[in-house]
Amino acid sequence: MYDFDKITDRKNTNSWKYDFYDEYGKTPDTLSMWIADMDFPTVPEVLKKLEDVAKFGIFGYSRPREGYFEAVKNWFEKRFGAHIENEWIVFTPGVVFALNMAVKTFTEEGDGVLVMRPVYYPFLNAINNNGRKLVNCPLVYSDGKYSIDFENLEKTIAENNVKLMLFCNPHNPVGRVWTRAELEETAGIARRHGVFVCADEIHCDFTYNNNVHTSFLNVDRENAMVCTAPSKTFNLAGLQTSNIIIADEEKRGKFRAAVNSTGYEYPNIFGITACETAYRCGEKWLDELLSYVYGNYEYMVDFCRKNMPEARISDLQGTYLPWFDMNAYGLSHEELMKRVENDARIWLDEGTLFGPEGRGFIRFNIACPRSVVEEAMDRLKAAMEK
Ligand SMILES: Cc1ncc(COP(=O)(O)O)c(C=O)c1O
Repeated sequence: MYDFDKITDRKNTNSWKYDFYDEYGKTPDTLSMWIADMDFPTVPEVLKKLEDVAKFGIFGYSRPREGYFEAVKNWFEKRFGAHIENEWIVFTPGVVFALNMAVKTFTEEGDGVLVMRPVYYPFLNAINNNGRKLVNCPLVYSDGKYSIDFENLEKTIAENNVKLMLFCNPHNPVGRVWTRAELEETAGIARRHGVFVCADEIHCDFTYNNNVHTSFLNVDRENAMVCTAPSKTFNLAGLQTSNIIIADEEKRGKFRAAVNSTGYEYPNIFGITACETAYRCGEKWLDELLSYVYGNYEYMVDFCRKNMPEARISDLQGTYLPWFDMNAYGLSHEELMKRVENDARIWLDEGTLFGPEGRGFIRFNIACPRSVVEEAMDRLKAAMEK
């Protein structure tokens, strides 16, 4: 049994989540539930290996060896039935880096790049910051559930010179784990229109109940790149190590050349060690973590049912980022955020960061001890009752 209830003080550790309250105008008693890292120490075996590396004391140039590739490949084979070969893996210092490189590599200035808003905001930045045309096929929100409008997807692609699709699977922030049928339909449309798919699967290990993650590698691997990383799963984001899987040789060659042109080649020694060890030893820890995080979600759902029935929480099929629709309160988005930030003193991601479709929504990060979730719910209730 791992102790996920324990509060760890993360202040003074260069934590983006905890050490920059002044810069963001937050009071010291604010609960930080925004940026997507966890308040739990990583897998004990990973910690031990990192200590060994630190104690060794020589931090020369490093490169992953065969054991690293084996650990990555076994994880995806065992958990998702996804086959990977060593040479398909391209290293990048993060998935957001890979999204930006995908936009640069597979499109020209002015080309359309498709997203399905509301979506993780670096998708939008990767398009805008590289001078491409952002083409949105909004997710359909109906009766509290999100889905893809395939007819609109096909039409939008055809009309907007779309060359690349940035696809989030599972989807941050709406928490959907796309079904195989949905993925196949998306893949079919992309292929028919010559659109390459960049599937961000960083949240693939966070799925609950009967929701099964299907990797794009098992849907149309010749027309996709799949972005993976151990960073969300094992709380290793600060080590900046991700594995981008590209089966198609020509596409991979282009992408690798683009990455090389930045001067980046291999992950650092801590990232290599942590990634290999986590995929090798982290399964039991992850399984316990998943039931703990889902328990946090269930607490929220139950609390809202009893105390805040106006709050509508999207079904958390995947990720650790519940998405709250607060529109039934009838407040303006600005008033909602004032209550959340100033009255409840909770720091979270406001819905409009993910696109205008997120007006009246807030996104929580619940990868934290239960007591923090309890406190947040009490504060939110008081602020909304004002
Ligand atoms: C969908 C998605 N992709 C990428 C990232 C970040 O990836 P990285 O830290 O590897 O750049 C996040 C973090 O929240 C995310 O939610």
